[in-house]
Amino acid sequence: MRPHSSAELQLEPLFPMALARAQLHLDPLDLAAWMQQVLHLRGAAAGNPQHGCAWTGDINGVWQLHRLPLFAPLVRQLQQHVEVYLQELGFDPSQVLPMIQRSWPVVSEPGQQVGRHHHPNAHLSALLYLNGDGRGETGCLRLFAPHQCNELVPGLSVGHGGPLREQDPARRRWNAPWLDHAPVAGELLLFPAALDHAVTENCSADEQRLSIAFDLVLCSPRPTPENATPAEYLSPHPSQWDPLRQDEPLNP
Ligand SMILES: [Fe+2]
Repeated sequence: MRPHSSAELQLEPLFPMALARAQLHLDPLDLAAWMQQVLHLRGAAAGNPQHGCAWTGDINGVWQLHRLPLFAPLVRQLQQHVEVYLQELGFDPSQVLPMIQRSWPVVSEPGQQVGRHHHPNAHLSALLYLNGDGRGETGCLRLFAPHQCNELVPGLSVGHGGPLREQDPARRRWNAPWLDHAPVAGELLLFPAALDHAVTENCSADEQRLSIAFDLVLCSPRPTPENATPAEYLSPHPSQWDPLRQDEPLNP
């Protein structure tokens, strides 16, 4: 019983971070083929050089999955959802062009995880889970709160013996230092690339955790004779970039 709760007092969540979730309509045969291809691309590797880290294709030469025809159906669905995400955030679709910078598979074996990081080179992160049943045993995506505006007393949400009730849902709602999301096969997530995240340890006995990650960048639309000047706040379209080392061709 809360001694002073009152129907007259309303708490309003301000400054929300936009995490998008979508269950993709995938052909089970596609999903099976993608899993097989991801494991084939990993080959005999067991993990990244850091002890206990999952195998991530981006640092192992497998960083352009989107260029493989096998993954074309995924790229199509990703594009549809990214367009909606941008419009939901208020973007004018005629003013921005989403580009795939990288895409890579991640394979986390039992006992492996991925440490806290973000993607400073990108604007928008996308993730597709190839397997997972929503229980999170193979490892959850951990999203870290960038700011804890409601941390009235510093450290109250992570310290021991603090003033918050251990099991009170309000603790999680207003002061969670992170949120864990359990993978579900075929689920797509979108979130700002600047957001710190990690993958918790795969605690299953013998199940791999398979996912595909994308670094997406928003740039100016391709220039036209009528409009060749990019907006000041966006990167120009890559076709308008030039190497500073002028003896170096941009696209040899
Ligand atoms: Fe990441």
